[in-house]
Amino acid sequence: MSHLSPSILSADFAKLGEQILQIEKTGVKYLHIDVMDGMFVPNISFGAPIIRSLRPHSNLIFDVHLMVEDPDRYIDDFAEAGADIITVHAEACTHLDRVLQHIKDCGKQAGVALNPATPLSAVEYVLPKTYLVLLMGVNPGFGGQKYIPYCTEKICNLRNMIDKRKLSTLVAVDGGIKRDNLKEAADAGADILVAGSAVFNGDLQENIETLLKIMK
Ligand code: DX5
Ligand code: ZN
Repeated sequence: MSHLSPSILSADFAKLGEQILQIEKTGVKYLHIDVMDGMFVPNISFGAPIIRSLRPHSNLIFDVHLMVEDPDRYIDDFAEAGADIITVHAEACTHLDRVLQHIKDCGKQAGVALNPATPLSAVEYVLPKTYLVLLMGVNPGFGGQKYIPYCTEKICNLRNMIDKRKLSTLVAVDGGIKRDNLKEAADAGADILVAGSAVFNGDLQENIETLLKIMK
């Protein structure tokens, strides 16, 4: 069974606490939190203080996606702020193995994100210590972009790589996931489907209910 992970990048920040409570009531387990530094990606979002403020109000699994250069500098901060999963980009780490170990040493689950053009070989050796691999369906930086179709083949290939080695690493997909391609990504082997604009644009509850129905 696949899980939906709503990305708060598309939330109404003036109503963030309220919207997260609404999400929790739908039975969703994950919350995707996009941190952007204006360097690794062209956009700036928010940092650890937002996570620290939300933490006491939510039991959702905080899945923190760091789109940040040299993320090793911030692992302790995000761990302390209340992240459950910390995902770093392979492209942003000179010493990816060291960063993953750092996340695990903080008692958190470690994730690796790959941009669309980055081959799966970038995670081949670290897969056993990786809780999830986040395959980007768009070039990261903004919500509301169009899904790049070749990413579906990448989801299938990663699924096969994990299954062949009998690993429990989760496959996640992030970017451009909408009502019309959610099922395609789930069927290709994604365990976690991240969706921002498809969740927050319009009626939040109705959107989540529709997306969950399509995923079944
Ligand atoms: C993209 C972010 C995504 C984003 C997805 O850089 O990492 O998590 O919020 O937004 P949608 O679902 O609108 O493409
Ligand atoms: Zn993301």
